Amino acid sequence: MSSFYVTTPIYYVNDYPHIGHMFTTIVADVVARYHRLAGDDTYFLTGTDEHGQNIERTAREKGIPPLEQANLVAGRCEELWREIGISHDDFIRTTEPRHHAGVRAIIRRIEAAGDFYSGQHEGWYCPRCETFYTEKELGPDQQCLVHEAPTEWKSEENLFFRLSKYQQPLLDLYRDNPRFVRPETRLNEVRSFVEGGLKDLSVSRSNLSWGIPFPGHPGQTVYVWLDALTNYISALGFGRKDTVLYERYWDTTDGVRLHLIGKDILRFHAVYWPAFLLSAGLPLPHTVWTHGWWLKDQKKVSKSVGNVVRPDDLMERFGSDSLRYFLMREMVFGQYASFSDEAFVDKYNADLANDLGNTVSRVVTLSRRAFDGQTPPVACADNPLIEAAAKAVADYRAAMDELAFHTALAGLWKLLSEANQYFVEREPWKLIKSEGATEKLSRILWNGLEATRIVTVGLLPFMPEVAPRVLAALGVARPPHGFEALEWGGTPTSALLPEPQPLFPRIDKQDYLEDAMDDKTQQAQKTDEPTAKEKGPGQIDIDRFFETELRVATVIEAEAVPKSNKLLRIQVALGDEKRQVVAGIAQQYAPEDLVGKQVVVVANLKPAKLMGLESQGMILAASEDGKPVLLHPGQPVANGVRVR
Ligand code: MSP
Repeated sequence: MSSFYVTTPIYYVNDYPHIGHMFTTIVADVVARYHRLAGDDTYFLTGTDEHGQNIERTAREKGIPPLEQANLVAGRCEELWREIGISHDDFIRTTEPRHHAGVRAIIRRIEAAGDFYSGQHEGWYCPRCETFYTEKELGPDQQCLVHEAPTEWKSEENLFFRLSKYQQPLLDLYRDNPRFVRPETRLNEVRSFVEGGLKDLSVSRSNLSWGIPFPGHPGQTVYVWLDALTNYISALGFGRKDTVLYERYWDTTDGVRLHLIGKDILRFHAVYWPAFLLSAGLPLPHTVWTHGWWLKDQKKVSKSVGNVVRPDDLMERFGSDSLRYFLMREMVFGQYASFSDEAFVDKYNADLANDLGNTVSRVVTLSRRAFDGQTPPVACADNPLIEAAAKAVADYRAAMDELAFHTALAGLWKLLSEANQYFVEREPWKLIKSEGATEKLSRILWNGLEATRIVTVGLLPFMPEVAPRVLAALGVARPPHGFEALEWGGTPTSALLPEPQPLFPRIDKQDYLEDAMDDKTQQAQKTDEPTAKEKGPGQIDIDRFFETELRVATVIEAEAVPKSNKLLRIQVALGDEKRQVVAGIAQQYAPEDLVGKQVVVVANLKPAKLMGLESQGMILAASEDGKPVLLHPGQPVANGVRVR
């Protein structure tokens, strides 16, 4: 059994993880689970990148030590990874002594190769990327293109790595191993960057205290990327006594080493990292597989752009597996994809509630009815679905090996639709009535169950929580191990079929989107602050409270918003001013009862659009079991007076 090692980037700890970080981690998890299913000796690493100026700065701004900041975010990552079913074998933190040992060890080897020297380093520096850029790599006004933020001119005495020496070896590497970078377009990008000439790389910083001291060079701290990249081997024991894992998953000729990354960090992984390893005389990864970005409103989802998506709400309502499915189905791996609540709900309803949920429920209900609560007694080894399934499985495996997840899933769905077609043509629901529980009916229903079972086995890496439940619903009590489970014939005959439970309840799209919009109005003023849940109980000072302008207003008109069950369009008098507020209270309040009532309004809230209508404020309500109860002054007061 050969070994398979898969890694995610280690994530910065200056902020909580968002959908972009979740995505790479889910991809790695799907890949790891798929290889475990294949029987490979699999090891899956993720973790956090905790050193550097950014983290130091964030912690300073919060008035806490950097390690406390790191603990907060690393803790949240581990918690979130648990919530979304990530099955990593290890979580490395770069502040751990085991990682420091690995970094010191690689530095010793690079030093022994004579690849470090001291020199003056100056250039345009992006503190967020922690990288120096040349003039031509920057946008107008020396802006960093990744962060669309200003860079700083910096000059200091540093240690340099002889990157230029590795130009030819790297070009040879790309030529001899065209799969070193995937997809191919990214390899071409990297190759032309290297062909353009490599400058030596500054690998220490003199003004940074939050990092690993550079061995043998007091006052110098290891450059964060040399520090961070080494996690892939330090986690396995490189630089320590116990190197069993390192030998099993990295220093082996009989194994595959795969780094999954977003395109933002391609150069570090496909140029610097192999150069460091070549210099240190260590084995290289086989493949650096690069994916595109999740976009929202046409921009990369990122903290600095301020459009992060933290899909806690989606997960709470639809389960984390539905989110995993959506992310893997929607992005053509390697390209860009756009995230929207609407697309999510559509996909959920169409693929999961409709196609998968209904197919399972139909075939199980029919079998139970015909065969006394059991799977059919007679299996079938000769029917058109066998060939369809064999083709679907072959396509699925080929796609999974190429990380073409959307193709793999589309192939499984094709088999589902073929199984449905097979049913439609044979009409087993009529046969039950006309002929009863015959052998013919048994074969038809068993075929339907079997095709659905194969689809579900293919889903195991994608939906680790739900797929076993679907299998159980199909009469397969224990989730299988090994690819044999993808072969035709696995559904047991005359096995107990539990009463079907709703697996993917349909979502009313309009209701959901309205709720989501309500939440958005409430958050319209929030930027990227951690949620109250993330922060834990806290206190704010009085000045912060007074930033919110609460005023009394009188309702002068109210009407239902067309096509909405929840929203009312309300005109209020706020002092001399008239304002329109859209509020989600239609289920509790009739418009006519509101006119003349006084309410409390958040008067300085950024306007937001709800169902196409501008809402210029928010009416305060107590939320009892999620139902709004409006707050009124105890006695009439002048419109516009402040509430404090
Ligand atoms: N700490 C470095 C990585 C060091 S690896 C030795 C870093 N961290 S990060 O927190 O910024 O995470 C970057 C990674 O998060 C990207 O490479 C990508 O995997 C993921 N994503 C962050 N935003 C993303 C999107 N909007 N879309 C998809 N993934 C992106 O860089």
